Amino acid sequence: GDVAVLVPAAGAGVRLGPGAPKALRPLAGEPLLVHAVRRIAAAPSVHTIVIAAPAADVEFVRRLLAPVAPVTVVPGGAERQASVAAALAAVPAGPRIVLVHDAARALTPSALVESVAEAVRSGHDAVIPVLPVVDTIKEVDVAERVLGTVDRSALRAVQTPQGFRRSVLAAAHAAAGDPLTDDAGLVEKQGVPVFCVPGSELALKITRPFDLALAEHLLTLDS
Ligand code: CTP
Ligand code: MG
Repeated sequence: GDVAVLVPAAGAGVRLGPGAPKALRPLAGEPLLVHAVRRIAAAPSVHTIVIAAPAADVEFVRRLLAPVAPVTVVPGGAERQASVAAALAAVPAGPRIVLVHDAARALTPSALVESVAEAVRSGHDAVIPVLPVVDTIKEVDVAERVLGTVDRSALRAVQTPQGFRRSVLAAAHAAAGDPLTDDAGLVEKQGVPVFCVPGSELALKITRPFDLALAEHLLTLDS
């Protein structure tokens, strides 16, 4: 394998409601992070996995994942971007391709990990999985008055894993300013072209209780 996967998993999960950090909440009896790491490790290209865990749970996460896959666990930061930077700093020499994949997208198929990695390998410096936007999108002002209707055909909803040539991601993080919610955004600021590949509905981000219920149901369908 020529791929390192960074897994930001240090978030609190505020929108999921009170409880453990989101990556450690149970889904069908196992923490979200276990579901995510199992699928990442099953992708043949993956050589190295680095988890950014909540600082108080680093040892717990090491023990949790030891039977699942060989992983490195580091403490995450206050923002997702800081967690990714901490994980990136722990990647050993070797992998030329780095993927960044949210623990919250716990049901992401191994095949999506492979297709993003393959697109980077084939020459794209930055690759993101996307889905078309299905809802009509309106732009509004602060008073909730509609300013206009956006042309949805030119919009994409973005998922993870996002894949990068390692040197490109490292340079983007070294130059990073205000925290962004995705890594491709940092690379875009560097003027690097970002290429889209088809995403997967199974790569949904578990954000609210509804998403957790949906994920539970999807697992009963054997995803
Ligand atoms: N994340 C992280 N470090 C942070 C914040 C987020 O590693 N300081 C990770 C989360 O663990 C998650 C991913 O980034 O896997 C996407 O973030 P999000 O879905 O927003 O998760 P949380 O921040 O945990 O949720 P919330 O915003 O509802 O608190
Ligand atoms: Mg968050």
